[in-house]
Amino acid sequence: MERRLYIETYGCQMNVADSELMQGLLDRAGYTRVERADEADVILVNTCAIREHAEQRIYGRLGELTRHKLRRPGVVLGVAGCMAQHLRAKLIERVPQLDLVVGPDGYRHLPELIDEAREEPTLAVRLSRVETYGDLVPARADGVRAWVSIMRGCDKFCTFCIVPYVRGRERSLPVGDVLRQVEHAAAEGFREIVFLGQTVNAYRDGDVDFAELLARANRVEGIVRIRFTSPHPSDMSDRAIEALAACEKVPPHVHLPLQSGSNSVLERMRRTYTMEEYTALVGRIRRAVPGVALSTDIIVGFPGETAEDFEATRVAMRRIGFESAFVFKYSPRSGARSAEWPETVDEEEKTRRITLLIEEQKGTSLLKNQADIGSIAQVLVEGPTRRNPLEWFGKSAHFKTTVFPHRGESVGDLIPVRVASATPHALLGEGVRAASFAATEDATV
Ligand code: 5AD
Ligand code: SF4
Repeated sequence: MERRLYIETYGCQMNVADSELMQGLLDRAGYTRVERADEADVILVNTCAIREHAEQRIYGRLGELTRHKLRRPGVVLGVAGCMAQHLRAKLIERVPQLDLVVGPDGYRHLPELIDEAREEPTLAVRLSRVETYGDLVPARADGVRAWVSIMRGCDKFCTFCIVPYVRGRERSLPVGDVLRQVEHAAAEGFREIVFLGQTVNAYRDGDVDFAELLARANRVEGIVRIRFTSPHPSDMSDRAIEALAACEKVPPHVHLPLQSGSNSVLERMRRTYTMEEYTALVGRIRRAVPGVALSTDIIVGFPGETAEDFEATRVAMRRIGFESAFVFKYSPRSGARSAEWPETVDEEEKTRRITLLIEEQKGTSLLKNQADIGSIAQVLVEGPTRRNPLEWFGKSAHFKTTVFPHRGESVGDLIPVRVASATPHALLGEGVRAASFAATEDATV
């Protein structure tokens, strides 16, 4: 039997890491990787359900992929990930050509599930309280950055969020598994580790908390940077902040999702902190890690978000001064608590609010980036930009995309770049023109 596998990934880094996990598992089961769906016997789509828009896009893509089954009926078409868990059997009703629907806790049995799916449509959507995949070895894509999931699931139940329902209860990987993965990634030549978890700083295995994990990972040779995403403000202990300051491999950048600047919205979101507490936390982080860059997630148009609530978010973003922000329009997700509440902000108003925040953030990002002009950025080299093979890019310690003229540097080098100019999205080295890098590799505002 032919065993050629193609995996396509949507959504967050956790999904990228899960796809690498599935790839590793199926490598060992005798599958070979192919880069295109039309070369594959098994097509897996690893999906996202965080917003309606993500699901719509994936439905479109699944429609396209079903044509491979028309031409080659032996092809197995499977859907994995959060949308699989969210819709379960309904997904097969909507896309009858699907052979396999497997949720985030079903990957360990993928080889058998795929074999089963060759015979009849197969559903594996039971969530687990214990599965961490900590013992499995992911097949990581080349690059400087290795994703390491250190926990799975979420117990926070923010009212807008579907994650606790599709990824199940929070559980941490055994610390031995995490460190083995870090060492393995270092041995494979990766230079940067990104610890992943829905509330990554809630990590705990016995006595080992997130702070201790950072300290232990900090000692692994070969790794030069340790990042993490996403921490929850309520789980950011003083110990964790001290570890950020003490571990020289943990760069001065924290992605700290705020979601809203209004206390009444935060309360209805059940975020478990007030704006005052968030601001105090930012103060503690800034005192411990001078010059730290902060980025965030914001949702506009949550049910009941008034003009005043929105204004409070605007003010909060301006006051705190994030280096960058991801801003989302609220999207009701069936299953999540807030989906039962009537929407009060129409699409047009959501668009107005998101546009305003993105515009204002662009201004803040530009000012922050311009403040770096004349300084030296320490850049972990990732490779050539898409537009110009003579201009390479990497991330600065503050996680800012930095472009520089290539003079023989190799992927994975940590190099100093004097910042000569800046855009809202990037720092530019001497001789790099903003126009040549209008669209960044990683365009966030
Ligand atoms: N609608 C809009 N944005 C959402 N997010 C999570 N759930 C929703 C939703 N229902 C955003 C949050 C989170 C980020 C990953 O996605 O800002 O931090
Ligand atoms: Fe969703 Fe809240 Fe958990 Fe983040 S902390 S995954 S927003 S429920």
